[in-house]
Amino acid sequence: MNGATVSENGAPFDFELTAQGLRVCPHGGGEGALLPWLWLRDHCRAEHSFNYETGQRRQTPADLDFGIAAVGLRWLPEKNALTVQWNNGEPPGMYPADFFRKITANGGAAVGEEFIKPQLWDAAAIADCEPSAEFADVAEGKTEWLMKLAERGFVLITGAPPEKEGARAVAEAVGHIRETIFGGLWVLESGSRAHSDSAYGYGAIGAHTDATYSHDAPGLQLLLCAETKSEGGESILVDGFRAAEVMREEDPALYEFLCNLPVPGEYVEDNVHLRACRPMFRRDAETGRLVQVSYNCYDRAAFLPAPEESGLFYRGAKRFQQIADSPEMAWQRKLRPGEAILFDNWRLLHGRRAFSGFRKFCGCYIDRETLQSKLRVVFGKTL
Ligand SMILES: [Fe+2]
Repeated sequence: MNGATVSENGAPFDFELTAQGLRVCPHGGGEGALLPWLWLRDHCRAEHSFNYETGQRRQTPADLDFGIAAVGLRWLPEKNALTVQWNNGEPPGMYPADFFRKITANGGAAVGEEFIKPQLWDAAAIADCEPSAEFADVAEGKTEWLMKLAERGFVLITGAPPEKEGARAVAEAVGHIRETIFGGLWVLESGSRAHSDSAYGYGAIGAHTDATYSHDAPGLQLLLCAETKSEGGESILVDGFRAAEVMREEDPALYEFLCNLPVPGEYVEDNVHLRACRPMFRRDAETGRLVQVSYNCYDRAAFLPAPEESGLFYRGAKRFQQIADSPEMAWQRKLRPGEAILFDNWRLLHGRRAFSGFRKFCGCYIDRETLQSKLRVVFGKTL
């Protein structure tokens, strides 16, 4: 049966049995995929192997027969599915056309996952396409603003109720709010000493990401201006992916070094001592793409790299801070009551100018996976 091709009966794919597994090629071109027999058995979508009520497998790897291979294929037009006859007498496997469509859409690299391409920006680029949304549209469940958030890394929301409930409505349009040491939905008032964090003071804060001390830094941060009677205090956002790209273009070796040097972050106050460690630029192990920038000079814990690495680290950190704090990279705005920024804390850095007077902000964190889930549900692809 090896080498046999099944393409009759209106199947949207060509299937070929090979010694290694099933080769699947979509009609009309596109990348095919070779699905090893053991893999195919493990992913069987017949009722006996897959629970359609829960979307879970019924069997474990302990049930797999390592000698398994197909001895026959049949396309079932009435079910728009392929059945596979096995060499060991197990009940036939079944695979809907959709199953093969998802796999071949990505060349088999990341089954079922399609990524939204970040549109990197600097000050000039973002001035031409500031991503914004009306609170009313967000609260009504419209979704265009979510794609702006995914592509640009932030969205400016205007016309929100300048209070906690306004922040809650924006956050819950994405998903549930994350509980942290700051609570769920928090209020940040100038002059308050609620936490030992520079966010509660009046000084300028350079570009940084939040929660480098957390193993799972929040994927989103929301800041809603509730009140302001102040001079200064502009909010600043910088595209950390673009800043990382500038670093890579300037000095590829230094960039590579920073992709591999774990840097610890730490947060200490009464009864709290958080600490986590990861490189400034974290790449996805599977795809190699940059997935997270972690940079917070304020929360960096004492650490002592090897002497030859220490100088390199400081060279990298200094240059990155210079790039991130340069006006050519920044979007900035003095938020007015009812205006909010919702931004990707795995990609964007944020900061603020010094101010005097009084400001009150409401805000919260949202987990990265909550945003990813929302994007998959709405757009069928994610970050
Ligand atoms: Fe911050």
